[in-house]
Amino acid sequence: MNDGFTLWFTGWSGSGKTTLAIEVEKSLKKYGIPYVQRLDGDIVRRDLSRDLGFTKKDRDENIRRVTFVAELLSKNGVATLVSFISPYREARATARSRCHNFIEIFMKCDPEILKNRDVKGFYQKAKNQQIHNFTGVSDPYEEPLDPEITIDSGRLSVAEARDLIIQHLKNKGLMG
Ligand code: PPS
Ligand code: MG
Repeated sequence: MNDGFTLWFTGWSGSGKTTLAIEVEKSLKKYGIPYVQRLDGDIVRRDLSRDLGFTKKDRDENIRRVTFVAELLSKNGVATLVSFISPYREARATARSRCHNFIEIFMKCDPEILKNRDVKGFYQKAKNQQIHNFTGVSDPYEEPLDPEITIDSGRLSVAEARDLIIQHLKNKGLMG
């Protein structure tokens, strides 16, 4: 059986977590990894965490639930891809201690690029105080201190970033 692992994508809104996780998921399936499951903030918040908002308490609860699911999956042989802002170091440290073969991927991106790109229009709304507790504008993001992988999504293409992650998994003996 393939050993499970957890790819934990963390970073600001719009930094490319979802896009890259989808690309890596496709690649893992192409390589014949039998069990792959992606957990994404926007999707989980429509279902498992639909009662939660964006206060620290709610974000911690969101990540606690996701950690629980990712732990179950990764310990049972599933390649688990988790893409959440997950802004707090302590919550990510807990995830690291519980999930199997935890690999933290920091989506590092110049805040100016994110604010200019503003794909979802949230940065402008946050600036105008139409939405509150917005990461990077009116809410904190604690950068990872020692992530396994750092992706500068302003510089690397999605394909380059994906290949970097696949290579890391190969180096760790987590895929053939
Ligand atoms: S967290 O902090 O890990 O609990 O957040 P997460 O579950 O990943 O949810 C992030 C997505 O929610 C949307 N959104 C916000 N993000 C940050 N701050 C505020 N206030 C907020 N309000 C809504 C946004 O679409 C995030 O998706 P991504 O993919 O990160 O852009
Ligand atoms: Mg996303």
